[in-house]
Amino acid sequence: MRLNKTALGLALGLMASTALVSAASAQETTNTTRLHPKDVAFSFEGPFGTYDRGALQRGFQVYKEVCAACHSAQHLAFHNLMEAGGPEFSEAQARALAASVKVPAGPDDKGNTTDEKGNPLMRPATLADHFPSPFPNEEAARANNGGALPPDLSMIVKAREGGAEYVYSILTGFHMTPPKGFKVIDGKYYNPYFEGWNISMPPPLANNSVTYSDGTKATIDQEAHDVVTFLAWASEPKMEERKRVGMGVLVFLIALAGMLFAAYRRVWKDQH
Ligand code: HEC
Repeated sequence: MRLNKTALGLALGLMASTALVSAASAQETTNTTRLHPKDVAFSFEGPFGTYDRGALQRGFQVYKEVCAACHSAQHLAFHNLMEAGGPEFSEAQARALAASVKVPAGPDDKGNTTDEKGNPLMRPATLADHFPSPFPNEEAARANNGGALPPDLSMIVKAREGGAEYVYSILTGFHMTPPKGFKVIDGKYYNPYFEGWNISMPPPLANNSVTYSDGTKATIDQEAHDVVTFLAWASEPKMEERKRVGMGVLVFLIALAGMLFAAYRRVWKDQH
C-alpha cells in the first residue's frame, strides 16, 4: 500500500509538471523554429538507391529555367551533365545545352571585356565552362533580392540539416495561412519550413513553370521533386559509384568470412 501511494504521488507530480511545460510552450507564440521537413520518398535513398535519370534531366531544366535567375551552382560544369551517374545527357545534348547559355567572354583582340555601352562581352558556353552566376557579385545579388543573398545551390542538399527533404519542403511550403499573431515582414513571404518563417525568396514554382519535353505533368510537387533530385546529385555526383563500391566490399567481406570459417573447420577437423 505504502509503495502504491508513493507511485501515485510520483505519477501525479509528473503529470502536473508535463502540463506546466506544455502550457508554457503553448503560450510561446513567438516560437518560429522551422517545421520538421516533409517526409517524401526519393529514388536515391537507401543503400541501393540511384538517381532517377528522368528526374535529373527534368530537374536540370527547372534549375536552368527557374532557379538560375537568382541562384548560382558554381561547382557544376556543363560536361558534368553527360557524365555517368548524373543526368547522362548525350554529348550532343550537353553541347547544345551549354551553347544556349551565355557566359562572360575573355578580352577581345583589342583587350576589351565590355562593349561600347559598358555591357560585358558574352559568348555561348562550352562543355568546359562552369554554370554562370546570375549576378556579377554579392552586392548585386543582394540588391536584386531585397537585401537577402540567394545561396549557391551546388552543395545546398549536403549543407542543410534535413537535406533533400528540407529543400523540397521550402519549395512546396509557400501559400499557407500564417497563424494568428504572426507578422509576415513587408517584402518577405511566409514559409514555416524556413528558420524564422519569413523568407526573402518569392514562391519560385507554380504549376506549369516549365514545359517538360517527356510529357510529364509539371505540377509544383513534380517540379520540386525533380529539381531536388538534380540538386542532390549536384551535392554528391559520385553517390552511385560510392554505393556500388560499398556493396562490393560488403559482398567480398562476407565471402572472405565464409572462406576463413571453412579453412578453420578443416584445420581443426582432426584435433578433436
Ligand atoms: C527571384 C529570385 C529567386 C528564385 C527564382 C529562386 N530563389 Fe531560392 N532564394 C532566393 C533568395 C533571395 C533566398 C534567400 C532567402 C532568405 O535568406 O530569406 C533564397 C533561398 C533559397 C533556399 C533556402 C536556403 C537556405 O538558406 O536554407 C533554397 C533551398 C532555395 N532558395 C532554392 C531555390 C530553388 C530550388 C529555386 C528554383 C526552383 C529557387 N530557389 C528560385 C531567391 C530566389
